[in-house]
Amino acid sequence: MKILVTGGVGYIGSHTVVELQKTGHEVIIVDNLSNSKIEVLDQIEKISGIKPECEIFDLEDRTKTKDFFKRHADIEGIIHFAAYKAVGESVDFPLKYYRNNLVSLINILENMKEFGVENLVFSSSCTVYGQPDELPVTENAPIKVAMSPYGNTKQISEEIIRDTLRNGGLKAIALRYFNPIGAHESALIGELPLGVPSNLMPFITQTAIGIRKQLSVFGDDYNTPDGTAIRDYIHVVDLADAHVIAVERMVNNKGKKDFEMFNLGTGNGFSVLEVINSFEKTSQTKLNYQIVGRRAGDVEVVYADTTFANEELGWKAVKTLDEMTLSAWNWELALKEKNNN
Ligand code: UD1
Repeated sequence: MKILVTGGVGYIGSHTVVELQKTGHEVIIVDNLSNSKIEVLDQIEKISGIKPECEIFDLEDRTKTKDFFKRHADIEGIIHFAAYKAVGESVDFPLKYYRNNLVSLINILENMKEFGVENLVFSSSCTVYGQPDELPVTENAPIKVAMSPYGNTKQISEEIIRDTLRNGGLKAIALRYFNPIGAHESALIGELPLGVPSNLMPFITQTAIGIRKQLSVFGDDYNTPDGTAIRDYIHVVDLADAHVIAVERMVNNKGKKDFEMFNLGTGNGFSVLEVINSFEKTSQTKLNYQIVGRRAGDVEVVYADTTFANEELGWKAVKTLDEMTLSAWNWELALKEKNNN
């Protein structure tokens, strides 16, 4: 199958491109490189032996997007990663987030209709659940008022897809990610945060390698066994595999409904301190951290009920927390090695 991967140069996108290639699919990437580096394509080639075709433009641009689809009407499925994702930045620049995340989705949907591309996998987030009333959280849990413009773009995007699908002709799967971390086992691709990372895992590895002085642990007064907040961390390669299955499910008409959504997590919650402990063990490095106050907007505990994804997609996350923290560390070491040469 020929699959369009938007944002395929980015963190989750690049891992998904590799898994698609491994399964024998042809990949074409569209990316504006706003949060990624073109060299990632060479890294993908080192892993898979295939350098994916890639066009650099902004999917916010309606004319360029239409021109792209005109030339690639043989695409069978789209995996749409391209979006901004920094929660804090979205609070400071909400319109930047609404414009990019929503307009690019609208442009894609318009062209899917016009050029008969029927299948869309959309990158959604567990952030749509806010602090759920019941744990583990299922796909039927109510959508809560978004905590940030970023989170709101994910909710609105799901609504835009739902409304667009009502008129028939298209299918979509929204994959609601919990907390993706880790890197490919080759340490050739991984997360490349620009500037100071806001997410936990890259902050840990950058602190351990000496780029940051100290990790702040945001809050130890949560109602959890060790007082720190709990998340469902999932290895990015497990996450990538689910995208391959999701797009194949639609193209092969295996879906139960035109619009399906699945939680992508392991089903296990780990606290911030448990992640740190795992990291210290696997990297054999002592991490400099201190407990500080809670971060505004953080939820206390969230982890997935993965039954639906396990049963319907026949997919299950298999990598352990130790594998996640070790692969993140190996990636950070590889980056250092590369920068030293
Ligand atoms: C959030 C969103 C997620 C979104 C992601 C994008 C929720 C539940 N999740 O993830 O949907 O895709 O942002 O960025 O809203 N922490 C520290 N110190 C740090 C950084 C983080 O203690 O320096 C803690 C946080 O307080 C949190 C945990 O580590 O408890 C994970 O934080 P992070 O990696 O930022 O992810 P989320 O905020 O869970």
